[in-house]
Amino acid sequence: MIQWEHFLAPYKQAVDELKIKLKGMRSQFELEHDHSPIEFVTGRVKPVASILDKAQQKKIPLDRLATEMQDIAGLRMMCQFVDDIETVVELLRLRNDLRIVEERNYISHKKPSGYRSYHVVIEYPVQTIHGEQRILAEIQIRTLAMNFWATIEHSLNYKYKGQFPEEINKRLQGAAEAAFRLDEEMSKIKDEIQEAQVYFTKNKETSKKMKKKE
Ligand code: GTP
Ligand code: MG
Repeated sequence: MIQWEHFLAPYKQAVDELKIKLKGMRSQFELEHDHSPIEFVTGRVKPVASILDKAQQKKIPLDRLATEMQDIAGLRMMCQFVDDIETVVELLRLRNDLRIVEERNYISHKKPSGYRSYHVVIEYPVQTIHGEQRILAEIQIRTLAMNFWATIEHSLNYKYKGQFPEEINKRLQGAAEAAFRLDEEMSKIKDEIQEAQVYFTKNKETSKKMKKKE
């Protein structure tokens, strides 16, 4: 019998710490640059029911979860532009507080479902009252458009348990193509968008200052 609360405790600790650290990267960019390659960060510990489902599907014995299930701790970093993803991955490679054990590029090699995202599996040392425990975590880095598609597809998957009716399947493939084109179009006008965003941020700051004076 697995004592889930005990088993998952270091994963929860890792997700909490990594959320703070990755959000910290965003704050540093905002402080030092006009544009941040990181739009927002989320994280979660996989629910026990999903761990059990996946273990059964992938035939992972429960005593090997820690080494064979890489996404019990999961983080997501959302970017505005496809180019930002490489910038973020580069920064992860430079960090001394985690070790990258695997990278999977589902952007240059999208999945048959249409899924696109960049996955980085890390080993992360959690300090516990019994000493250091290294756990695996998966960081998914994707654009807002990739995230939109993946979120919708995930809910449909849940509803249809992966067995999509043909019509839905066609629509999803079409939507994946549209998300890809949206990313392409946004990349082409990246400079214009960023200029507008700088202008917007500065205006917001000025109006905040003016409000304070009132
Ligand atoms: P797992 O065995 O689930 O780990 O899949 P995998 O090893 O083939 O791929 P990978 O580990 O790189 O990706 C797993 C995670 O990526 C999943 O938990 C999802 O969050 C996400 N993912 C992978 N494929 C899809 C997909 O087709 N649709 C959606 N919505 N998400 C996906
Ligand atoms: Mg996997």
